[in-house]
Formats: sequence, C-alpha cells, structure tokens
Amino acid sequence: MTTRVLVTGAGGPAGVAVIRSLLKRSDLTVFAADMDGWASGLYLVPAEQRRLVPPGRDDDFVPALSRLVAEDQLDLVISTVDVELLAVVDRRDELAPAILAAPSAETLQVSLDKLALAERCAATGRAPRTVLAGPDALAVDWEFPAFAKPRQGAGSRGIRMVQDRAALEALPLDEGLIVQDLLPGEEYSVDVIADASGSVVAAVPRTRARVDSGVAIAGRTLHDPELQETAAAVAEAIGLVGVANVQLRRDRAGRPMLLEVNPRFPGALPLTIAAGVDIPSLVVDLFLGKAIPANVPFAEIATVRFLEDVIIEVDEVLESAHAGHQDEL
Ligand SMILES: Nc1ncnc2c1ncn2[C@@H]1O[C@H](COP(=O)(O)OP(=O)(O)O)[C@@H](O)[C@H]1O
Ligand SMILES: [Mg+2]
Repeated sequence: MTTRVLVTGAGGPAGVAVIRSLLKRSDLTVFAADMDGWASGLYLVPAEQRRLVPPGRDDDFVPALSRLVAEDQLDLVISTVDVELLAVVDRRDELAPAILAAPSAETLQVSLDKLALAERCAATGRAPRTVLAGPDALAVDWEFPAFAKPRQGAGSRGIRMVQDRAALEALPLDEGLIVQDLLPGEEYSVDVIADASGSVVAAVPRTRARVDSGVAIAGRTLHDPELQETAAAVAEAIGLVGVANVQLRRDRAGRPMLLEVNPRFPGALPLTIAAGVDIPSLVVDLFLGKAIPANVPFAEIATVRFLEDVIIEVDEVLESAHAGHQDEL
C-alpha cells in the first residue's frame, strides 16, 4: 500500500517542484490538483490522478478538498498556494482522516502580517523597526530614506521609499501601510524546514540573481552561518513546523535583517532540492509522523531555468470553470 498524497497549486512553480520531488518516491501515489485545467503540473501525474479544485477563495474550496479526501482515500494534502492555506488551515479537521501538511494557523497568520511578524521577531534582534504609517511612524526618529509597504502585501505591490519627513507625513493612511528601516543591502531567500518540535533541520540561503513574476529563476545557494542562523531564529520565533521561505536583506551596517516570511513552498525549490535538501520529501515524512534527520547538510550549487513545452492529447486537457493562476507570490 502506498501513501496517497494530493498536491494543489499544480500550475505554479512550487507545485510543479513538489510534484516532481514526490514522484521520485515509490512509496507514494501523487495526485495533482489545480483550479485551472491548463495547469502544467497536472500532466506530470497519470491521468487518473489529475484533479480540479475550486479557487481557494471559493466557499466550496474546503468541502471540495474533503470530498477528494474521501473519494481518493488521501492520506496527506499539501497546498502550495497562500489563499488556499488561509482557507484550510483553521479547518484542517474537515480533511480528516487526511493530514494537512502545513504550519499552524497561528504561524501562518503571523507570517502573513508583516507588522505582527516584526513584533514577534523583535527578540531575535534581526527585525527592522516596523510600525504602522501615521502617528506611530511620525513618532520614530528614522534615518531617511525609510521604507514603506503594505502590512499584508505580496509580489512587491505597493512598496515605496520614504525619502524624508515630508514623504512620511504624506503617506496614505487607508492602505494598511507599515514603515520600517531601509535595508539597502544584498537580498537573500532562505528555505527553512523545521521538525515537529520546531527545531530547524535545514536553512538553505540562496541568492535571487534573476526574478520572474516574483519567483527566483536563477541563483545560487551559499554557506553563510549568519544567514542560516538568522533564518533559523526567525523560524523558531514564529513556531514553524514544516516549510517556510524566510527573506532577508542587509541593513546599512551589513547585518542580515528580516524582510518577510512566506509560510509555504518557494518557487525556487528545485535549487534547494538539488543542493541536497529535498524539502517536499522531508515534509511528507514529517507530517506522516515519521522520523526525519535532525540536520540535513547542503551544497553550494547554482541554477538557471528554461521553459519546456509538454505536449498532450487535446482530450486530456481537463475542462475547468476557472482559468489563470491564483496569487502565488
Ligand atoms: N525595509 C526594506 N528596505 C529595503 N527594501 C525593502 C524593504 N522591505 C521590502 N523591501 C523590498 O521590497 C520587496 C518586497 O518586500 P517584501 O517584504 O518581500 O514583501 P512582498 O514580497 O510580500 O511584497 C523586497 O523584495 C525588497 O526588495
Ligand atoms: Mg517578498
């Protein structure tokens, strides 16, 4: 008997990478799902294991997942999409007997609120000063330029430099903006996996040499204890169990500081897997209650990415009511 795993978000780079990783294991049967019948990752698995789901924002999303759990006798559900995670994380009981391989609702909520995140991580000494735009921001003695961005943003939407006091006073107050110290240095992404007790198993820093639609498509991993320890401290502060992507940027003094946490599989996962940390496979074992190593080492290695056309029969294409990608950034 194999373990039956459903991976959603099959149209995104993270979904594709998770599916590819899990297909290498002979002890798993991998089902792929997306809201869009044109999602490429659907066609990586055998035809009888392809599924359509409603959009994560749809009221029927969680009930539809739970129907799949029953019909396909699923043991594990992995979602690679933020909006889906938000919808399901408080309702994981409804997926029983399948297990949802995702961090706790609390970890997810603190990660998706950049103000709460900075406050939670203040004790690590690696969070920039962060306050709401308005009176709180006017009370801080900033070194200008400072930086402003939406408290709950994604995909770099709504980010801006705050050049001086006048610009600070002019910030709109109806966009949920936060103001923080400018981090003018190099930016890194660190893929982190923590075990069931919250202990960090691997933290793999990588550069984002080229970025397309918010996803790093070229870059390299690097051994840097300070980056690894900073990301691990953040993961521990938010009580991470499972996978997250911790983004760091150097401050004026060159110290790596916290930008944000994306509490899900990153689109650049193939690099981290090639470096020796097969996060999807570890996540499966972790949420199935199997032992995983206390520490997994990684190598320094680089990646570039190209597109590949997958040719399928016309009648293979699943017909979905919904098209296009959900917000995967
Ligand atoms: N404090 C900051 N100083 C300088 N640049 C920043 C700062 N915060 C964010 N940025 C820039 O804005 C981008 C998006 O911010 P981030 O916090 O990652 O939010 P998201 O990716 O969810 O939009 C970052 O990749 C970085 O380039
Ligand atoms: Mg970001």
